[in-house]
Amino acid sequence: MFQLNENYLKLPGSYLFSTIGKKVNAYAAAHPEKKIIRLGIGDVTQPLAPAIIEAMHKAVDEMGKAETFHGYAPDLGYEFLRNAIAENDYKSRGCEVAADEIFISDGAKCDSGNIQEIFSRDNKIAVCDPVYPVYVDSNVMAGRTGTYDKETETWSDVIYMPCVAENGFAPELPKQTPDLIYLCFPNNPTGATITKAQLQEWVDYANKVGAVIIYDAAYEAYIAEADVPHSIYECEGARTCAIELRSFSKNAGFTGVRLGFTVVPKDLKCGDVALHSLWARRHGTKYNGAPYIVQRAGEAVYSEAGKAQLKEQVAYYMKNAHYILNGLRDAGFTVSGGVNAPYIWLKAPNGMTSWEFFDYLLEKVNVVGTPGAGFGPSGETYFRLTAFGSYENTVEAVDRIRHI
Ligand SMILES: Cc1ncc(COP(=O)(O)O)c(C=O)c1O
Repeated sequence: MFQLNENYLKLPGSYLFSTIGKKVNAYAAAHPEKKIIRLGIGDVTQPLAPAIIEAMHKAVDEMGKAETFHGYAPDLGYEFLRNAIAENDYKSRGCEVAADEIFISDGAKCDSGNIQEIFSRDNKIAVCDPVYPVYVDSNVMAGRTGTYDKETETWSDVIYMPCVAENGFAPELPKQTPDLIYLCFPNNPTGATITKAQLQEWVDYANKVGAVIIYDAAYEAYIAEADVPHSIYECEGARTCAIELRSFSKNAGFTGVRLGFTVVPKDLKCGDVALHSLWARRHGTKYNGAPYIVQRAGEAVYSEAGKAQLKEQVAYYMKNAHYILNGLRDAGFTVSGGVNAPYIWLKAPNGMTSWEFFDYLLEKVNVVGTPGAGFGPSGETYFRLTAFGSYENTVEAVDRIRHI
């Protein structure tokens, strides 16, 4: 008789977005006349930029002719894309990352969930609290997190690094020594960032204790301030301790197209073994590459036209972010994020919990956000609003919240 991977049974239900969906649907069914504005999910809404569409059309045509048809992609991804990434995302920022240290994938969710596979089950992970749930759940599935405590909503073998107002939503070096440290900046859900000097401390710490930092830079394109690093490889010594994850979802609207990449520097080693070779082995064995058409679309992100159009797209979302941030601050709410990130982190008013505030906003002003509790215990009294809606809806939602 077969047996299950029991670790999956330990996972608490994926209640967050399904509970939100159920509540919103029930409200909409009971009040069909109300216009509900959704600023909850982290999905983009603007169409793909013309330069990307053009590149995709061209690639589709190539696929229709024997002479230019493409089958399986090379294991690491096409060189044209890896070269464009190495040049534009790294070399231009003074970071040493070679094209053959870049692994093209279909997005950062898979990579952030899969990367733990190349590490021992005995490794101890450290995560920010609140956190993008994939980091923890993928380690639960691998049996690395111990037992779940329903009361505290924490795992016995996970090191939690609270990111709260008192520390500017930036994690502090943990007291207990971790082996794997997940960091995400600009952060989902808090929208917080850390400076290059702060990130350098993490790099120095990881090199000192022999830990690996898994650095999720999915929101890098939203960075506006000069002292916020775009890549962990801007820090000295990161090549011996850090893996970086990137996504085309939020900088180029690829949430439905699917493209991302992971950087594993060849200097990152455990004894004599380069993590690069392990990830290459995993990639080659379990993944057959992002589609040629999509990789050509990714290349167009780095064209002059693509860069200009995407700068505008990011600016569109950031205009929303600023409207939410300033509008709610003026109305007396305690808000943060929204400067280098498309997320605004809002303190639920009057001592409400995040779910109480969710219900309140849905019922009183028909605005949907995401309760912070869904991202970890330190999110219990916070609420996430996203800047990914239309400008008109964003303005209307903020004006409604202001007047409650
Ligand atoms: C922090 C973070 N990492 C990764 C992802 C997933 O990115 P992708 O669409 O490339 O899978 C998201 C998506 O919301 C995210 O917030």
